[in-house]
Amino acid sequence: MAVSDSVVRGFSSAVSPLTEALLEADSREVGAGLRSRGNYMPKPKKIPLSRYYSEEFAALEKDRLWTKVWQFACREEDIPAVGDRVPYTVGDMSFVILRSAPHEFRAFYNTCLHRGTRLCDGAGSGASLRCPFHAWEWNLDGSLKNIPSRWDFSAVKTPDYKLPEVKVETWGGFIFINPDPSAPPLALSLGVLPDFFKTCPAEDRFTAFHIRKRVRANWKVTLEAFLESYHVVETHSDSLSFTGDASTQYDIWDDGKAHISRLITPLGIPSPHLGDTASTTVATNRAFEVFAMAMPGIPVPTYDAASTLSGRAQVAEWRRQLLGAGLARDFSSWADAAMLDSVQYFMFPNFCPWYGEGLPLIYQFLPHGTNPNESLMSVRLTAPVPGGGAPRPPSAPVVELDFDEPFSTKPEIGLLSLIFDQDMSNLPRIQAGLRGAAPGRAEATLGRYQEQRIQHFHEVLEKMLGA
Ligand code: FES
Ligand SMILES: [Fe+2]
Repeated sequence: MAVSDSVVRGFSSAVSPLTEALLEADSREVGAGLRSRGNYMPKPKKIPLSRYYSEEFAALEKDRLWTKVWQFACREEDIPAVGDRVPYTVGDMSFVILRSAPHEFRAFYNTCLHRGTRLCDGAGSGASLRCPFHAWEWNLDGSLKNIPSRWDFSAVKTPDYKLPEVKVETWGGFIFINPDPSAPPLALSLGVLPDFFKTCPAEDRFTAFHIRKRVRANWKVTLEAFLESYHVVETHSDSLSFTGDASTQYDIWDDGKAHISRLITPLGIPSPHLGDTASTTVATNRAFEVFAMAMPGIPVPTYDAASTLSGRAQVAEWRRQLLGAGLARDFSSWADAAMLDSVQYFMFPNFCPWYGEGLPLIYQFLPHGTNPNESLMSVRLTAPVPGGGAPRPPSAPVVELDFDEPFSTKPEIGLLSLIFDQDMSNLPRIQAGLRGAAPGRAEATLGRYQEQRIQHFHEVLEKMLGA
């Protein structure tokens, strides 16, 4: 369906314009990516709630989605040296992702060919892959290296016992796998992403902080909680003084092969919900404070009424100077939007790379085991690799957070941990509520504009599952 003009594209106030107008007013040339508008609008359709808890639906997802789709597994910097490996586990399927040569990555089914033991449980390293049970051992290219008591396995022909392998491709330092041997190239699934990220190359960034959280909600419930800014007014009401939640711009690009969507939520303007008389000065000052929280001890500027720059441009300029000096990199041409705003892309089915310095995150959402009422959310906070010939900082190790452990136990990510806890507080409640829905009313009704990315997600999912 083409983008329809009957759709109302957000809500603004006299002091809180729509994102499109803010991009027009940017103090820098906003690149083609940020300026680009989507080419697709999904059809309105209710979503059956059973798909968030049905075991049959989860089994269908395993058979027709996770075994067929390009999916973000890890970052190249997670396995910097030859022999480094991490497991990538989606539901009850698991793969070992390893660096088999300086510029070569491989992914194997994470199961021993002797009696089925999982080979890799966590980040590790070594010249071979060795099973912890009886020490069957494989080379990094998957060929069988050694079987203890080889005399007892005369029927085992070494070439027949290569570890089963799945497709691996990379883009921007992200490692993707696809268990489908006949899968088309990854590039067809990336769509606009490589083009749009040229001005903020993901390969020039590293994982500065990495949390993996267990959540008592279906993986789609968890994912969908992060695809819209509609919930900000209720769930994150303490952010309204500096967040243009209802001004958010949503876009979808779909060519039938790549299913990409994006939101841009502007920062440093009051929420349109606060009305025409909300203070833009407060919005600017709060934006200064929020960004300063990530750099304890630095002096916090305030809005300069004598400046010819807008409040947003003032905050953006301050960030360009600070980050530029701290990282020995040049941000002088970066748009205000790229320095401030929450620009979140989504690649079907579960990968959100964020663009720019406003909120530099990476999300990954996964089913947890075979229980459709549980999921995993991985959050990475990224930073640019410093310039001036400095070495690439190591990728942060994963910090595991159990079901009942809040993000606020990890104060390293500052204000973000409080925001994530606000989101997390909803999720088990959603999972419980949708399971107890009245018969005949067990459907979700989505907002036409603000929840279009969720609508689109389900459209693609239904098509893939034949559901
Ligand atoms: S199960 Fe792996 S070596 Fe025996
Ligand atoms: Fe949220």
